Amino acid sequence: MARTLRAVSKTAGAIGDYLAENATAIKSFAEYIAPGEIDSADKLRPGEGAIVREGLSKIAAFRDDDGTLYKRSAACTHVGCHVHWNSLERCWDCSCHGSHFAIDGTALNGPAVSPLARLG
Ligand code: FES
Repeated sequence: MARTLRAVSKTAGAIGDYLAENATAIKSFAEYIAPGEIDSADKLRPGEGAIVREGLSKIAAFRDDDGTLYKRSAACTHVGCHVHWNSLERCWDCSCHGSHFAIDGTALNGPAVSPLARLG
């Protein structure tokens, strides 16, 4: 009986892990098909960043105080989750495993080590 309960407990734990891992994948997929936060990077004011959809791609767009527009892939270089603009720290954050990227896409904190892909 105890052996059966342990097996059931292990199975329940494995199912919980499976659902948790797939919840992240489902959330990531939903972000890929969702619209951007704004419809054009042209709408960014100096100091603002946002996710913009361009065709099938999601772009992490930031306009610096001089008006220069930075466009990088919104796909985190660790496993591919989407990054989000952090207006307080002025960087791109990945909520999946905690990577941070500078406005030019440079990886600041891992686990990602490669920069966000440069676009345009
Ligand atoms: S996918 Fe971004 S930190 Fe893992």
